[in-house]
Amino acid sequence: QQTGYQAWLEFHPVAPGERYDQYLAYSRIVCTEEDEVIHTAAQELSHGIGKLLGRAISVSENVEGGAVIALGTFGGGNALVDRTFGDETRSVIKPEGFAIKSDPASGSIVIGASSASGVLYGAFHLLRLLSTKQAVNGLDVIENPVNMLRMINQWDNIDGSIERGYAGKSIFFDNNRITTDLTRVRDYARLLASSGLNAISINNVNVHQWETKFLTGEYLPEVAKVAGVFRSFGIKLFLSVNYASPLEIGGLSTADPLDPAVREWWRVKAAEVYAAIPDFGGFLVKADSENRPGPFTYDRDHADGSNMLAEALKPFGGIVIWRCFVYNCKQDWRDRVTDRARAAYDHFKPLDGRFMDNVILQVKNGPMDFQVREPVSPLIGAMETTNQMIEFQITQEYTGQQRHLCYLVPQWKEVLDFETYAKGEGSSIKRIVDGSLHGNRFSGFAAVSNIGNDVNWTGHLLAQANLYGYGRLAWNPELSAEAIAEEWIRLTFGGDEKIVSVVMSMLMESWSIYEAYTAPLGVGWMVSPDHHYGPNVDGYEYSKWGTYHFADCHGIGVDRTKATGTGYAAQYKGANYETYESVESCPDELLLFFHHVPYTHVLHSGQTVIQHIYNTHFEGVERAEQLAVEWAGLKGSVGELVHKHVADRLAEQAAHAREWRDMINTYFFRKSGIADALGRTIY
Ligand code: GCU
Repeated sequence: QQTGYQAWLEFHPVAPGERYDQYLAYSRIVCTEEDEVIHTAAQELSHGIGKLLGRAISVSENVEGGAVIALGTFGGGNALVDRTFGDETRSVIKPEGFAIKSDPASGSIVIGASSASGVLYGAFHLLRLLSTKQAVNGLDVIENPVNMLRMINQWDNIDGSIERGYAGKSIFFDNNRITTDLTRVRDYARLLASSGLNAISINNVNVHQWETKFLTGEYLPEVAKVAGVFRSFGIKLFLSVNYASPLEIGGLSTADPLDPAVREWWRVKAAEVYAAIPDFGGFLVKADSENRPGPFTYDRDHADGSNMLAEALKPFGGIVIWRCFVYNCKQDWRDRVTDRARAAYDHFKPLDGRFMDNVILQVKNGPMDFQVREPVSPLIGAMETTNQMIEFQITQEYTGQQRHLCYLVPQWKEVLDFETYAKGEGSSIKRIVDGSLHGNRFSGFAAVSNIGNDVNWTGHLLAQANLYGYGRLAWNPELSAEAIAEEWIRLTFGGDEKIVSVVMSMLMESWSIYEAYTAPLGVGWMVSPDHHYGPNVDGYEYSKWGTYHFADCHGIGVDRTKATGTGYAAQYKGANYETYESVESCPDELLLFFHHVPYTHVLHSGQTVIQHIYNTHFEGVERAEQLAVEWAGLKGSVGELVHKHVADRLAEQAAHAREWRDMINTYFFRKSGIADALGRTIY
């Protein structure tokens, strides 16, 4: 029975006769170091290779004789490691990187690293090579992670619910307690480490009453146990904290960041946390955002607020990750001046230079909120002397909630490759978030997780590709979306070439399909408020959240130009500003994000806006239906349960795509009065 629980760590057994003889000789895993993480690495190798070969393969300290897989740190005592890697290799391996080399004479493979985590990543890398059936007899691999922080944010609440979770309940919490059976947490840690991730915050950024107490003796011992599980996989634990903690659990009458008693309270708190968890990562903070408390209450700014926490964590090497998702969520629909898209930049850019060096600003990839299409946030890279990291959303809040297929790696790649001109040409987003452009001390990736306690973790089995892909991309943003997809497919389903080609094409098409039948041309939203599963064209149009499309009988879109609109376009540097400011040069897919145009406006594609809306919506549905047809062709090739599961999701997707098509087309037909040039049915 295939359930998807093992995800990409399935290790499909090698079929007899497969081009695999080269591995059959391994007699043991050689591990001589006493270290928790290295021990994990050895166990993972023994487990994975054992499953691949269909026989037990033991871990031993014996370095002499036979074809073995050896692993260890440089100078850590494993003679095979020390013999294999000279100074030249050692000098290029960064703290979490690794080297892998085959020894043709003995048939052995040796993994070496400068740290235990590096050894673990090397072990998972080798397992990936073996499971995807690549030749390993002439290996000479050197890998270093490009990004320092490769983090997952859980939006889990202590009652077991998950904010924007679409795959069951929390694996961390249940019924106002931290779960005591940590088996599943451990299996999650494996998945994360195997894809290259090294940090996790375990609770929702909206920290409610109970979760605020995580910082107290009531919960800290339990949090420490969870941290212990992640530690054995080289992953650091962080907590989301409530800015008003001094008031809510500290008995103080203020949370003013400049108040000495408040500062002292946080200092003592930090010491308590580190006493329980010596390698604690730090705090993740959502402050002055969507009704959460923050320094604004005391007329202080985000620098005051974050620095106070950073000062408390500093003696322990901890960091503060401060989110920039700050905007006025109480806007009136008549107000045409306030622009939510501008908010993060307007709030934070003026504060550049004022943050302590252990503060990192976490900026969402776009200026709004994880829509299927948004421009890249102009704040990323705009603060030269401030640490920044990017925030993606793996959970598909606005991209089909894991009921629709939407492989997000291509979207993230576009963001990462975007040229910001922050320091002239060569200032892509990936160079900013890896810290190299501005020489930051801390930087990296964060993303909201898409897992819950569903057996297959992610609800939709194919949504596992997003979690895996996120980890791989955080490790190396140069990997292509196709390469990542192919790895994931082979690891998950085995090496059947038909499965590889069908699932690959489904994944690679899926984002563009979802975009086609939902909100058009970058305008976003059009979903039902609150739960965000669409379609609902005017769902947000008259609400306070500032997410408008301004459709009337003449046209649609938000004028964000400097000349006549909200001025958002001017937050971009150099050529980007000019490209977006002008209706002529603005790319089609973002036209309605930046401009209000008549329905008869002609796009670069040669179509009018209205005809584009009709065409993409009709085609989007056909393409969604085609996904189901493609998958149907895999019946008999993938396990029956898995086949049915995905087929059911795809059928639902097609049905809901039709609903989107009809709602959107009818709405714009009635608004514009312009008929479809091809005379298709519009209700
Ligand atoms: C979105 C999402 C919220 C979440 C918020 C955030 O608005 O709908 O559930 O809390 O983002 O990122 O803080």
